[in-house]
Amino acid sequence: MKLSADAITTITVCNLEEMSWEENGSCLVVPAYHKEFPLNSAVLAEEDELVLQALADREVLTGAAGCCYYLPVPSRAYGGVLVLGLGDRDKFDAESLRRTTGEASSLLKSNKISRIGLDLVNFPELPAPAFVESLNLAQYRFETYKKAAENPAPAVQEIALIVGDTVDKASLKESCDLASLISVAANGARHLANTASNDMTPMALAAAAQKIAEEGGEQCTCTIFDQEHMEELGMNALLGVARGSDEPPFMIFLEYTHPEATQTVALVGKGVTFDTGGISLKPAGKMNEMKFDMCGAAVVLATMMAVNHLKPVINVIGVVPTVENMPGGSAQTPGEIVRACNGKTIEVLNTDAEGRLILADALAYTVESRKPDCIVDLATLTGAVVIALGHAAAGVLGTDETLISALLAAGERTGERLWQLPLWEDHDKLMEGTFADLNNIGPDREAGTITGAAFLKAFTGDTPWAHIDIAGVSYGVRNKAYLKPDYASGFGVRLLLDWLLNQTEKD
Ligand code: BES
Ligand code: MN
Ligand code: ZN
Repeated sequence: MKLSADAITTITVCNLEEMSWEENGSCLVVPAYHKEFPLNSAVLAEEDELVLQALADREVLTGAAGCCYYLPVPSRAYGGVLVLGLGDRDKFDAESLRRTTGEASSLLKSNKISRIGLDLVNFPELPAPAFVESLNLAQYRFETYKKAAENPAPAVQEIALIVGDTVDKASLKESCDLASLISVAANGARHLANTASNDMTPMALAAAAQKIAEEGGEQCTCTIFDQEHMEELGMNALLGVARGSDEPPFMIFLEYTHPEATQTVALVGKGVTFDTGGISLKPAGKMNEMKFDMCGAAVVLATMMAVNHLKPVINVIGVVPTVENMPGGSAQTPGEIVRACNGKTIEVLNTDAEGRLILADALAYTVESRKPDCIVDLATLTGAVVIALGHAAAGVLGTDETLISALLAAGERTGERLWQLPLWEDHDKLMEGTFADLNNIGPDREAGTITGAAFLKAFTGDTPWAHIDIAGVSYGVRNKAYLKPDYASGFGVRLLLDWLLNQTEKD
């Protein structure tokens, strides 16, 4: 299974005098803050600046956030100018740059630009890695099932960052190459998630994991438990969900180790390759979207792929429980009681609350067998989180405030925002069972996202744990111009890698 559809964009960092333009398909990109004219470009020819100033005088060009303007200038070496609206200077941050870059990407595409020079000479504060990353995300296309295009969509293949003399070019290139790799990994997660559920089966996820391990070399191993092995281990919560499907379930472990590591983190991703709801069947409308119910898994696998490349000084375990939730003839029925691998019993009152069942075995087995320093799970767990936070943030809950704070901070840096919800004993009480230790759903529609987390908590023991509910942010994201709403977003890859790399720096 191919992980990514896109080639990586080449990045060069140079001074003005080193910059060489190509005849066709070049474009100069000039940043502009809102209402800050004349343009502050070190590259732009005076005549072109005058033309753009005339547009600014008529307020065609404003520099407002997300407002970009393309001016072809065929007589000039750079061929065209794209003004990148940064918005108000005091409100500007990396996420505003990402969003405006998303807008710019459409203009670059329609004007068939393949090579850009970004004028940073007078904008040393601009976070160039965010530009690189959002351009890679914006240019991602999923065309696996489309007839081969006669004229493949043009894309920017080369980014030259034009900088002033005082800038450390090597370190800027390094941070941009890192951003590029991370965004290619995010696109890899999107690719797994966008793939149709008849192809992206639990078996296909296992194959993808194996491929990642092979490419990862000596520091990465892949272990896959099949149904029989899971039966021996008593993973009946997961196996119960798998019963309605002809697709065999798996529990996947990708383990990256570094000889000097002092810490081990475990990342667990929900891998329901299709969620019909099971016997507690979902309504037909938009059920197709439930192919995205393996976004947590996709994010964990793609993160492991990037970890293998980056080789950080930390041990990272990626865990993916994967099943298809189907209402087949042998499917689990409401009221059945299953015993998870840690011995706790669960009454399955609703077969559509299946994510927590497969995660229960994954979390309990991982904390017990691997004893990680902390464990983070990502799951498209509840529709309730979409009601609470929409598509603007994922919900985060857990048992360790330090871990949650670190994740919240990574969310702010990457634009993959998290919002913490409480997880109190009052909520644990809501999940206590009548016939078993736990129910798999809470009463009615009360605090749906929190009760989901309260259920998971019962399987994490004493290990510091955070749960990220990504149901609202994994697809259908309309507010970020660098993502296409119909596609999976890859939410979590950039967040997790930012957090992981920050963890290692503190050692
Ligand atoms: N995969 C769904 C959650 C989901 C809903 C993801 C909408 C993306 C968009 C999950 O398995 C589910 O069905 N959850 C139920 C839980 C309920 C039965 C307690 C839900 O949210 O309705
Ligand atoms: Mn479900
Ligand atoms: Zn689900």
